[in-house]
Amino acid sequence: MSTRPLWDKGQAALDAAAQEFCAGDDVVLDRRLILHDIRASIAHVHGLQRIDVLAAAEAEALVNGLGELAEAVRAGSFVLDERFEDGHSAIEWYLSERLGDVGRKVHTGRSRNDQVLVAMRLWLKDALADLRARCLDCADACLRRAETTRDVALPGYTHLQRAVPSSLAALLAGHAEAFLDDAETARATAGTLDSSPLGTAAGYGVNLPLDRDGVARELGFSRVQVSPIYAQNSRGKLELLAVQALHQALLDVRRLAWDLSLYSTAEFAFVRLPDAYTTGSSIMPNKRNPDVVELLRAVPSVTEGAMSELSSLLSLPSGYHRDLQATKAPVLRAFTRGLAGLALVPALVHTLELDVARMAAAIDPELYATDRAVELARAGVPFRDAYRQAAAEMHDLKDRSPAESLAARVSLGGPGNLGLDRLRARLDALR
Ligand code: ARG
Repeated sequence: MSTRPLWDKGQAALDAAAQEFCAGDDVVLDRRLILHDIRASIAHVHGLQRIDVLAAAEAEALVNGLGELAEAVRAGSFVLDERFEDGHSAIEWYLSERLGDVGRKVHTGRSRNDQVLVAMRLWLKDALADLRARCLDCADACLRRAETTRDVALPGYTHLQRAVPSSLAALLAGHAEAFLDDAETARATAGTLDSSPLGTAAGYGVNLPLDRDGVARELGFSRVQVSPIYAQNSRGKLELLAVQALHQALLDVRRLAWDLSLYSTAEFAFVRLPDAYTTGSSIMPNKRNPDVVELLRAVPSVTEGAMSELSSLLSLPSGYHRDLQATKAPVLRAFTRGLAGLALVPALVHTLELDVARMAAAIDPELYATDRAVELARAGVPFRDAYRQAAAEMHDLKDRSPAESLAARVSLGGPGNLGLDRLRARLDALR
């Protein structure tokens, strides 16, 4: 480390190996957070000005300095590296270099403990907004593909055995509704996280009349985290909640990926993944491999790992502990991988090639046996007798069509339309 740590007061230096161990990759992770940290620092400075701890000219100089630093970070001319203990130290160092005494005033009334909390909170709010948008894009893609493939028949499976006549649109509607739930979960989670920890300092408040509400408003939070102790205790817990929301969506991606992987095998051959989403084998010239779909299926393992890391870090008593630094890596890794995976889904759904004839051919006459049993029951035959009668007749149920079968199942969201319009309306409401 070439710059002086913020906590240096003339004591002997930290052991070099211990210093390296404490730093880990923290400063590299802080590259992802520094713009949020700067944004929060600007709001903090405005707050200090409002309570006259900073003069207008001082606040202006600090805000300009912070703006300059943000520009330099974006342009790549300022790189957060091992010279600094962390992003927070780099911000204060930059302002002190530029502004001297005024720069050294920026940390009045705050601690790195609430500084890292607010930076991560802002980052998570953005990440959850992205998650919601991507879930809605996935739902939209499934719905649009369903809307244009309404008459494409497909067996409905239970136990992976052909069960009843169904359709591709019905399957896609199922995936669409799952992604709508995931978007809703992302929104609800963002609501829980929508509170500003800034102004809680090290976890016990500070003897200044900080304008916490004004700072929260400037940063776009709907409220403040009231208890400084809870602000610290919520670190890791709210990260876990966010990763859980992401995990829900990725589990639905995994199921869709599984369906595509299965249906694209030669054994099913209902769909063909486009070249843009398949790879080849280095030895077997005949191979087309569904690597993209398989890696999508693998993504929940990243969130699962992150959830496990986060929950094990939550076994701490109240207050800040340096252990909490270790919450950053799993969150950043999980969202990076998860959001990238979700972003691939819409194009995959849109470009999927369909073998409509093969899907229809998989609907054997006996798949209408349930329809037949229910028809008989509707006409007054006790269902168990109807069931047996339908079993006896099932190989002869030839004059039927999947379309009629589906149209008669009003419970599929409405006659003939599979409830696509209702799902579309919910999607629009969630946008
Ligand atoms: N990198 C630290 C973290 O993520 C910043 C807070 C440091 N606070 C402290 N008291 N050492 O937790």
